[in-house]
Amino acid sequence: MTDAIVMDGVHKRYGEKRALDGLDLAVGGGTVHGVLGPNGAGKTTAVRIMSTLLRQDAGRVTVAGLDVRERAGEVRRRIGLLGQHAAVDEQLGGRQNLEMFGRLYHLGARRAGSRADELLERFGLADTGRKAVKRYSGGMRRRLDLAASLITDPDVLFLDEPTTGLDPRGRTEVWDAVRSLVGGGTTVLLTTQYLEEADRLADRISVIDGGRTVAEGAPDELKALVGGDRVDIVLRDASRLAEAGALLGGTDLVLDADRRRIGAPAPDRMAALTRAVRVLAEAGIEAEDIAVRRPTLDEVFLSLTGRPAAERRTAEQATRATKTEAAA
Ligand SMILES: Nc1ncnc2c1ncn2[C@@H]1O[C@H](COP(=O)(O)OP(=O)(O)O)[C@@H](O)[C@H]1O
Ligand SMILES: [Mg+2]
Repeated sequence: MTDAIVMDGVHKRYGEKRALDGLDLAVGGGTVHGVLGPNGAGKTTAVRIMSTLLRQDAGRVTVAGLDVRERAGEVRRRIGLLGQHAAVDEQLGGRQNLEMFGRLYHLGARRAGSRADELLERFGLADTGRKAVKRYSGGMRRRLDLAASLITDPDVLFLDEPTTGLDPRGRTEVWDAVRSLVGGGTTVLLTTQYLEEADRLADRISVIDGGRTVAEGAPDELKALVGGDRVDIVLRDASRLAEAGALLGGTDLVLDADRRRIGAPAPDRMAALTRAVRVLAEAGIEAEDIAVRRPTLDEVFLSLTGRPAAERRTAEQATRATKTEAAA
């Protein structure tokens, strides 16, 4: 099977800032590929390059077998893009928006209309097609964005953080919509900050950080790298965190003093949970909350890079805060 998307040693700088630093990626035709990374990892930059909106400084990029620099026009005719900020018109109804996109892509009036109806039906929006988009819920709006990106029936679809900012219900709606694309032969590249999202939707995942690929594999392979499920404990008293950590023992513990939280590997799930409850009870350490859950992106990161993803996010937020203050 030929790869639908290839990025080979791709570099991109914005002035002094290295956004991509030798990024490698290979996505098989007809698969869903997750690009997982924290804020600032280079996800949007990579998507913009693959979708011909931005030129790389170095490295080779092909989409549907076509070099994105040399054959940008042909690439554009074969792709769909759902960006972080959607381009739908708030005042118009969902159907009108889709029709407008169809006309923009040179479908005739009749074909644009029938395509709009097809897509509304497919994404569960047929009943609300006349309603103005400003009255849509977050999940409905993202499904409409998704429909718009599919107007031309692209071979390759790029979804840049499709569920960021949605509530859990909206997220589930979008997940279902994306899943419904699978099997139609479309190749989907999806960026996300959530391991759970990549896990639910992707056949394979590339974890990126600092503009490079730090790991690649099927969701289960990546989870195995970080030791699978975790038990998550919130203590009532932060001062007993270290003591509790020592009692629980083992490697790969994550202690978070600010949130009074301990994360520990739980490969045997309920057995690990029961063990933790017993150990804490015997030492008279009170837990406010205790649960078994999937590893978070922070833990994947800690395990792959030796430092938490949150550290980086906090640094970025600090920079942004300073900039805002300077502007004020
Ligand atoms: N237009 C720009 N000018 C300068 N720096 C940028 C620009 N766009 C992105 N960056 C920086 O490049 C890095 C990668 O950004 P981006 O691709 O948006 O990451 P992500 O989508 O993973 O959050 C970040 O450090 C970001 O601050
Ligand atoms: Mg982004």
